[in-house]
Amino acid sequence: MPSATQRVLIIGTGGTIAGQASTAADHVGYRAGAVGIEALVAGVPPLASHQLAFEQLAQLDSKDMDFATWRRLALRVQQAMDDSAVGGVVITHGTDTLEETAYLLHRVLRGGKPVVLTAAMRPASSLSPDGPQNLLDAVTVAQTAGACGVVVCLDGRVHRGDRVRKVHSYRVDAFDSPDGVLAWVESGAVRVLQPWLAPLAWGAERLPADTSLWPRVSVLWNAAGEDGALVPLIESLAQREGRRLGLVAAGTGNGTLSSDLERALLQAQARGVPVIRATRCAAGPVLGGGGLRNAGALSVPQARVALLLELLEA
Ligand code: SIN
Repeated sequence: MPSATQRVLIIGTGGTIAGQASTAADHVGYRAGAVGIEALVAGVPPLASHQLAFEQLAQLDSKDMDFATWRRLALRVQQAMDDSAVGGVVITHGTDTLEETAYLLHRVLRGGKPVVLTAAMRPASSLSPDGPQNLLDAVTVAQTAGACGVVVCLDGRVHRGDRVRKVHSYRVDAFDSPDGVLAWVESGAVRVLQPWLAPLAWGAERLPADTSLWPRVSVLWNAAGEDGALVPLIESLAQREGRRLGLVAAGTGNGTLSSDLERALLQAQARGVPVIRATRCAAGPVLGGGGLRNAGALSVPQARVALLLELLEA
């Protein structure tokens, strides 16, 4: 828990939480990343009594999240974690790529302070926005005794950064943890159900500044009629670009793949392309082998981050 002199740093990156529509009843036709972080904080009166600092790092619709912004965010959060004046960090983010940003930060950051990502499903301009309560709850989590590591806080739920999944396209309870939430925020009190988890300290400074050095990691979905024909095409694209390549197979069920797709992936793997088998299912790990590594409990987007880091390490 931050001491009386430590502050919570709130970093704005955009998203629906900062979204603006032309009418208050419009929950879908808005512009994400329109309202600045200063105005978002000012819109939550109870935050006035907290020791806060805030800054705008980006103003994106998170569908457009990119490697350069990921790197700037990871470096800035690491700097804050190394700063004794900062007790915890809150990041406002779009919901669409929240689960992979959370997982990236979980993998690369080091230190024992809480990093709480929050977001909203309704724009700031809506009649009943969810963002203000989510932001207040996120600050509450960042100030909770014993809190540490990368978590996601929305709709009163606190999710582990390596387990969270976006499971709904529209509702305010859009996120879930298939194995259960880490904690609940209940009227300003945090009820913890699972241990906090320190980040894995891969090192934000190892993320390349030159984004052309980031590998290409493509996702291939198994589905009826899937014949694996894209696999060699993606390989030749990566070769032409001079980029390292990794493939995530979004398998059916327990990571199962059509015989043709599986054969194409095994052939790519034999040519030196790392492949991870994940699942299209909304919940549950991939178990077992079958010649391709499995993603365990990671979602498809999280498995893609894992492969990016693995290739950056190679
Ligand atoms: C975004 O991801 O930036 C837009 C959608 C959202 O935040 O819900």
